[in-house]
Amino acid sequence: MSEAYGSDSCAESGAWGGRGRDDDGLRASRFHTTRGPMPPSAWIRLPTARLRARRGQTPERPWIVPAAIGWLRRRIRPNWRVLELGAGRSTVWLARRAGAVLSFEDDQLWLGWTRERLAQLGTTNVELREMAVERFASEVARLPDDSFDLVVVDFLESPRADRVEAVRASLTKVRPRGHLLLDDSDRPAYSPAFELLSGWRAKRFAGVKDGWPQAVETTVFRRP
Ligand SMILES: C[S@@+](CC[C@H](N)C(=O)[O-])C[C@H]1O[C@@H](n2cnc3c(N)ncnc32)[C@H](O)[C@@H]1O
Repeated sequence: MSEAYGSDSCAESGAWGGRGRDDDGLRASRFHTTRGPMPPSAWIRLPTARLRARRGQTPERPWIVPAAIGWLRRRIRPNWRVLELGAGRSTVWLARRAGAVLSFEDDQLWLGWTRERLAQLGTTNVELREMAVERFASEVARLPDDSFDLVVVDFLESPRADRVEAVRASLTKVRPRGHLLLDDSDRPAYSPAFELLSGWRAKRFAGVKDGWPQAVETTVFRRP
């Protein structure tokens, strides 16, 4: 596990306190991920995103690369069972489209925000479990195998809990031909996740997330 901590995608919370793997100094520019330049499709989405940010509008959608949201919007089905590690606006977005969402979260502020928003909408298909991030992997391991159509790994890490461990625990929980989504997948510290998922088809999306200043990558893996 890498000991390097630094920038994270959770710009708005101000509470993450460096709980993310460091990728500083690896970009040629802020329009490059750590792996290379972002594609033309990401440039096309940029003006609208900037306009929204200037107006202080935050879309109620997952905080991942916009092209990955588009991909997910086209694929998600009303009967999907989703496991989400790291809650927020994505929980609300997923609940509107999937059959059932099980979400793990450790942060009081985001637990509160998410619960309140779900209650406001009268949402009944989400189970939001409060627990320390250090427990995420072991709790995932206790879930039945092959039971999720989609697992989303997008939580703030701690020195003793990283996303790679969560990916490892999730592998057998995704049903055959189901999906696992890893956000910020261009971080070098996450390369072991690609090794763990080497038999799975990987679709990489690069671009600028809502309200975030630099390009990153989201990867969706499909279980054989
Ligand atoms: C990278 S954020 C992603 C959360 C969620 N999967 C989403 O896409 O909205 C990871 C963590 O930051 C906190 N968080 C959630 N939404 C956030 C937001 N809009 N701004 C800042 N922090 C957020 C939560 O503690 C969450 O587990």
